[in-house]
Amino acid sequence: LAPPYTVPVVVHVISAEDGRGDVSDRRIRDQIDVLNRAYRGDYARGSEGTDTGFRFELSAVTRHADNAWFGDFNRHRETIRSRLRQGGPETLNVYTTALDSGLLGYSTFPQSYANHPAQDGVVIAYDTLPGGERDRFNEGHTGTHEVGHWLGLFHTFQNGCQSPGDYVDDTPYEREAAAGCPKGRNSCPHLPGKDPVTNFMNYSDDLCMTHFTQGQARRMIDHWAAFRGSDAR
Ligand code: ARG
Ligand code: ZN
Ligand code: CA
Repeated sequence: LAPPYTVPVVVHVISAEDGRGDVSDRRIRDQIDVLNRAYRGDYARGSEGTDTGFRFELSAVTRHADNAWFGDFNRHRETIRSRLRQGGPETLNVYTTALDSGLLGYSTFPQSYANHPAQDGVVIAYDTLPGGERDRFNEGHTGTHEVGHWLGLFHTFQNGCQSPGDYVDDTPYEREAAAGCPKGRNSCPHLPGKDPVTNFMNYSDDLCMTHFTQGQARRMIDHWAAFRGSDAR
């Protein structure tokens, strides 16, 4: 299984009937560009980070102006996803909508595709797309982060300072989520390495996030091969 791992993307825009949340094709393309830059390693500084080998290709955009869906996506999420979802396990379905304040996005994991194929996908708040109104979270890395979950990654602070942490060897242990962009934080001082504050799988500000590690790339490729990529089917 060799790179690139090309992921077809279908974006479903759930908006209000007055046009709120009806993000433009331009901003959807910008979000896909951010995904490609992030997964190629373009935001990394110095020797950190890697090209994960994943590439994203927009294949369709569907639009739905519906006040009930936009007003409470979570209440309607099973209906919405089973009506709109396209493609097989390899197709990334992204739903943009309004989410409760504080919630930026969420995702399903590769393992759940087999039992709940129609629910598979990523939900992101529409104002987190690049150039959106969400303060500190409008560079498009909510998309980057949620797609990390969709490809099998946990948060860097998963299991705190306890083994097995996030199941990735080259991300140091971390007691809890980072907020903002704390410099030099070391929340598991008895264990090697400072907190992975600038990792895409943390909760830091978008402008603070720079990379996935090689271990995370390996985990995503393994999950792609096992659950999503063409040789999995
Ligand atoms: N809190 C969300 C989650 O757990 C997303 C966090 C995204 N962070 C960001 N800087 N955009 O999936
Ligand atoms: Zn997350
Ligand atoms: Ca780790």
